[in-house]
Formats: sequence, structure tokens, C-alpha cells
Amino acid sequence: MKKYFAANWKLHKSPKETVEFFDKFKKHLSQIDFQKSSVVFFPPAVSWQATAQSLDGTEIEFGAQNIFSKNSGAFTGENSLSMLKELGGQWGLIGHSERRTIFGENEELLLQKIEHCISESVAIIYCVGENLTERQSGKTKDVLLRQLQTLLSASTGDANLVVAYEPVWAIGTGVVAQVDQVAEAHKTIYEQLKEAGLGKTPILYGGSVKPENSKELISVEHVSGFLVGGASLDPESFLRICKS
Ligand code: PGA
Repeated sequence: MKKYFAANWKLHKSPKETVEFFDKFKKHLSQIDFQKSSVVFFPPAVSWQATAQSLDGTEIEFGAQNIFSKNSGAFTGENSLSMLKELGGQWGLIGHSERRTIFGENEELLLQKIEHCISESVAIIYCVGENLTERQSGKTKDVLLRQLQTLLSASTGDANLVVAYEPVWAIGTGVVAQVDQVAEAHKTIYEQLKEAGLGKTPILYGGSVKPENSKELISVEHVSGFLVGGASLDPESFLRICKS
């Protein structure tokens, strides 16, 4: 199965910094085997245009960190999939824990976003993951299955879907999940997807992935790649992760 290396830049990198990043990153593209790997960037919306220009003629793809469930209208401050597509963006990130917690996105809204991406033929990375209290009280499996249910209740058809397991306690904390914790969560997700006829869906791990731990994590069963925050901001460290 193809491996996926996705860079979630969050609220980092202006258009100028985006161009500088790709000027460096593109010098090393021959080191990435694009037959076996997909590389996708999620820059802030204000840097989509700079990303599109920088990536023109490469096999690297990009998408939106956040999209609204309609293409246009009176929705102050929102991002539009049709505008993303006009620039060549092909991916939507949905359900990231920062959107769920800081911006209060609930399962109903997430489902609308999923349906909208599918109707616009935009590929989805759908994030799931438990917080520390949920893990410590033994609720990890329940949380994962509940969050996955949102994706599974959409009319997925032949949509291009990827799921990312991101334990909230490992995001941006430097605390990476243990190999057995990753294996267990990915198995839960895989089995649920398989039961729904989506057993071929790639499942990424995210949460403090770095060049130093990516080799070990990529060899865990049902881990098909990574969603990387902090370590994707530096061209060299993200390249090393893409080569793992
Ligand atoms: P991190 O972020 O790699 O900085 O932990 C991952 C994410 O939020 O997707």
C-alpha cells in the first residue's frame, strides 16, 4: 500500500515563508519515491496560492486545513473548496482535534464537511483521537469508534479517504505514543473500517512524529504514514520523515 506523508502547518508560514520552504524542499525531491509515497501539504489558506505556484510541475499535493460545507455565500471568515480547487488543491483535513476543541466543531458539522468534500471529489484526511482523560479512564476505543462513525455515516462511495489517528495528548507535546498503543488504536480503526467495506483505507499516525521516531512507527501494522505538525515546518526534518 502507498505511504502518505502529510504536513499540517497549522497557523504557520506566510506566502513568503512558504516559497522559501519549497525552494529548499524541492531540491531533494529525487530522494522521495513517488510511486510508493504521496506527499501532501496543508498550508494556511493565505498561502495556498504560493503553495500552488511552488508545487507546479511536481507530484506533491496540497489541501485545506479547514473548509466550510458550502462553496460560497454569507459565511464570514470561512474557506471554500471550489476556491481551493481553482488553485489545484485536492485535499481537505477534517476533524483535527484543534478544530474539535478550540473551535467547537461537532460530529454534525464534521459530517457536513465530509459530505461536501465527497460531493466535490476532494480527498479527505479524517482525524480521530482520544484525549488524556479519555485514555486514562479506558475510553480510547469508544472514542475512536464514535468519531469514526461520523465518517462511516457519510455516503463514502468511491471517495478518496484517509483516516489519521492522533491521540490528543501526543499532539505538539513531544510525547509520542508507544508502539503498542499505536498498534492497538490502528487495529481498532482498521477493523471498524473493514467491517464497513473500507478496509483499504490508509490509516496515518499523528502526534509528535519526528525523523527520530518515524522509522519505528512506520513499521507498525496498519500504519500507512503520518500526519506531521511541528516537524513538517523544517524542510530537512520533513524530508527525512518522507524517506522513512
Ligand atoms: P505535531 O502535530 O506533529 O506537532 O504533534 C500533529 C498534528 O496536529 O497534526
